[in-house]
Amino acid sequence: EVVSPRVRDLAGKRVVITAGGTREPLDPVRYIGNRSSGKQGVALAEAALSRGATVTLIAAHLDVPVPAGVDVIEAPTAADVARAVTDAAETADITIMAAAIADYRSAEVRHEKIKKESTGDELTLTLVKNPDILAGLAASRPRGIVVGFAAETAKSEDELIDLGRAKLARKGCDFLVLNRVSWSEGFSTDRNSVVMLSQGGDIVMKASGEKLDVAHSILNSLV
Ligand code: CTP
Ligand code: CA
Repeated sequence: EVVSPRVRDLAGKRVVITAGGTREPLDPVRYIGNRSSGKQGVALAEAALSRGATVTLIAAHLDVPVPAGVDVIEAPTAADVARAVTDAAETADITIMAAAIADYRSAEVRHEKIKKESTGDELTLTLVKNPDILAGLAASRPRGIVVGFAAETAKSEDELIDLGRAKLARKGCDFLVLNRVSWSEGFSTDRNSVVMLSQGGDIVMKASGEKLDVAHSILNSLV
């Protein structure tokens, strides 16, 4: 079921959403990125705004425009998202980590282009793990609700839920929204199919449809 946008059940609430895919620089012209379009995060921002919330969108790389009325903080890298969300979450009623955060960044960021002639036929990059922003945020026990997302290449919904329960236990957030991804599903499309777990691992909601409708279903559960 979808709440009508006229229902202002988030009036007076502050919602912080991270969205899009981070890009970790290698040199001034190159980065390591991922296939996140930011559509689900932006749909959440649009849905929360229409329900009366004050919305801050911490935007990594987005393939879609942000609706007017949403406050945008540009955060191209995982480190930028970490700084912005840690700060914004302090005053948020709901923080939703929909961004696809790079798990690794380059150990070294060159200030000049990596030149082809400077290597042989192979180039070895050393990557270092980024801090887990969501786990850190959940551990800091902010005032509001903390929601994570997890995209998994699971073969079935049962496997998706098993992976989700294990991830939820590792992250310590209040809710985890799961969806399946593959080479052909989950990215860039206007539709999504999700299962939402609460802290103890219970399934609180399942939704399939347009990303905006899925966003409203997620917000319904949080309300
Ligand atoms: N996340 C985060 N900081 C990171 C990596 C991920 O805050 N360095 C957040 C994402 O924004 C998402 C949640 O953690 O809300 C789950 O991300 P996911 O990539 O599914 O989980 P990981 O713990 O990175 O595990 P893996 O990629 O190995 O499945
Ligand atoms: Ca990851």
